Formats: sequence, C-alpha cells, structure tokens
Amino acid sequence: MKLTLKIWRQAGPQAEGGIRTYDVDEISEDMSFLEMLDVLNEQLINDDEEPIVFDHDCREGICGSCDLMINGEAHGPEVTTTCQLHMRSFHDGETITVEPWRAEAFPIIKDLMVDRSAFDRIISSGGFVSVNTGAAPDAHATPVPKANADRAFDVATCIGCGACVAACPNGSASLFLGAKITHLGELPQGQAERDTRVASMVAQHDHEGFGGCTNIGECASACPKGIPLDVISQLNKDLRTAIRHGH
Ligand code: SF4
Ligand code: FES
Repeated sequence: MKLTLKIWRQAGPQAEGGIRTYDVDEISEDMSFLEMLDVLNEQLINDDEEPIVFDHDCREGICGSCDLMINGEAHGPEVTTTCQLHMRSFHDGETITVEPWRAEAFPIIKDLMVDRSAFDRIISSGGFVSVNTGAAPDAHATPVPKANADRAFDVATCIGCGACVAACPNGSASLFLGAKITHLGELPQGQAERDTRVASMVAQHDHEGFGGCTNIGECASACPKGIPLDVISQLNKDLRTAIRHGH
C-alpha cells in the first residue's frame, strides 16, 4: 500500500503546531498502525529529519499507552486500541490524518504525545482501601457474589487510554472515572471508603479541567475495552449518596 499521511507536528508544549504531509509506501496490510508509523520514522531518520513522537508500550492492547486520533476518531475506524489497529482497515492510496488526543486536561508534550498524568492523580486521589494487617487472609474469607465479581472484573478492564476523553465533545473523563468507581464499589473491600473515594475522585476530575457529562455517549462508542455507559449512572448515584452522607 502507498499512503499519504497528514500528521500533527509540534516541537513542544508551548510551540505552535501544524499538520505536515508525508508519503509512505511498501506498507503491508498486516502491519499495525504503529508499525506503519515506525516505517515512516525510519524514513525520516534516514532523511536526517526528526522522527515523530508518539506513545506506545505493550503493543498488545493491554497497557493503554497508545493514543492517536485517526481521521477524527479516537484509535481510528475500529473499536480497538491504536496498536491493535491493522492497516487492512485502510485502502491503497488513502490519505490518513493523525492527531493527538485533544482535551484541555491532556496537554500536548510533543507531536502526538500528550500528558495523561491527570488520570494518575484522579486514581491517587481515591486513596487507600482498608485491610487488616497480619497474615494474608484466606482467599474465601470474604465471599463476593458472582454477579458483583463479574461486574467488577468487566469494568476493571479499563486501561486508562483516554479515548473516552478524546471522543467526548466536553472532554469529560466520566467513563474512565465511572469504571474506577464501579470497580471498587462492587466489592466488599471497597465499601469502607466508598463515599470519600467518589467525592475526592470527582473533585480531582473537575480540578484537572475535564468537562462534565451530558449523556452524548461518544465515550462508550470509542472505548476499546467496551466499558458501558451505565458506569456513569453508578458514578452519579455514588456521588449523590456521598453528598447525602455529608461529603
Ligand atoms: S473507559 Fe475505555 S476509553 Fe476510557 S480510559 Fe478506560 S479503556 Fe480507555
Ligand atoms: S501500546 Fe499498550 S495498549 Fe496500545
């Protein structure tokens, strides 16, 4: 395949950015999108040009590092992570536009790489989970109903990629936050700090500059892990309860 790539280049957080156009050929449809960018970067290095900066780590859909806006869609045309997107989703001769996540709370570091440490601060604002010290408890000491365990597991699959924020016209992280709140809220171990956790995490979310949820649903459509929209209902329910309890 031969492709024309229109890619956002930005030298640093304060620098003015813009779209640059590159041509690549000999792209196999079996390559991942990131492997295609590797080919372009080798080409740039050979031409004594600076390679394009983009985030990636596992390249297996697990870590949540990869994050590209491809033709205006978070992670591109398939519902998957950018690293698991294959070039067979595009056609020979196509022009593809590649941009970073666009959100006030995710400032651009360089080129296609954004700072998503706001997610880490939201998680750490949730604080600890109380457990007794001493020997490790028996695995079956705290029974968890199967339905709750399944729900907790399903929402724990959120990899913190930030596609939900990038897809949301409000730049809201409500889907991510709802996944984290629901995960611990389903488990007996998560009950002791349930009210303080949701109050702190929502306050941190707003402090970081993420927008509010207005039920548009783009987040769930873009989520590569299928986190359902109803975690946001759970988030709101937990927050209302916390406020009722004086938090
Ligand atoms: S909810 Fe989905 S889209 Fe949002 S950070 Fe988690 S995995 Fe990524
Ligand atoms: S690089 Fe780890 S999920 Fe894409």
